[in-house]
Amino acid sequence: DKPITITKLLSMHTEGEKIAMLTAYDSTMSALLNRCGVETILIGDSLGNVVQGHSSTTPVTVEQVAYHTECVARANSHAFIIADLPFASYGDPVQALDSAAQLMRAGADMVKLEGGDWQIEIIQYLVERSVPVCAHLGLLPQSVHVLGGYKVQGKSNDAATLMREQAFACQEAGAQMLVLEAIPSSLGKQITKSLAIPTIGIGAGPDCSGQVLVLQDMLGISPGKPPKFVKNFVDGHASIEAAIKAYVREVKTGKFPGPEHGFAG
Ligand code: KIV
Ligand code: NA
Repeated sequence: DKPITITKLLSMHTEGEKIAMLTAYDSTMSALLNRCGVETILIGDSLGNVVQGHSSTTPVTVEQVAYHTECVARANSHAFIIADLPFASYGDPVQALDSAAQLMRAGADMVKLEGGDWQIEIIQYLVERSVPVCAHLGLLPQSVHVLGGYKVQGKSNDAATLMREQAFACQEAGAQMLVLEAIPSSLGKQITKSLAIPTIGIGAGPDCSGQVLVLQDMLGISPGKPPKFVKNFVDGHASIEAAIKAYVREVKTGKFPGPEHGFAG
């Protein structure tokens, strides 16, 4: 298979072909996701929870994301690799470029950062220096200590309007992709329709250009009660490989996410 490029992902958005993304942190899973047709792999700072056992993503460092990116990249044959810029690693443009460079050298094709128009200067600075950027709006886990918990975002009319503006601002600053987390399905649809760049939803309804889940969540092995937007794909399947193939199939056909995985406005 040919490597998936940003051009391919942009044309999938334009043509309405759904993009399947999952997180991975190691080489074995990276190879498996490649075999199962997952187009984009995210080395999320969710590794703070999933790999390290923290209760938030804020302790994760650039060096740690870079290490896991190397592990994933080594086994990658064609997926597009996105690595998270972790908490406090992009406080100003120069720090952001230094952090992003570490992730790109580790094998990332793009970096992801949390935030909207307050990150415009950072996004522009990175893109002008040839670092592809994915923005992330809605629930921002790196802000959990400010938000006071993990809550659905963009529910009021004002908040929804603001988020639409933020999404557009990110695109105008040069972001080439946008993750939308835990927002009403209707807002996920509006934002996706209004943008030229692909949106990847996690709890953002069925109308985003693609979907992402934390791998361990969709395998049903994360401790505790899963968020509403998670579906356990191991249910009814005989192997992890079959579960991941089912995820890809259900994202492609629009079967996942169903109404039960979404939030009302
Ligand atoms: O860190 C992560 O895994 C993420 C996704 C859930 C979007 O940012
Ligand atoms: Na993340």
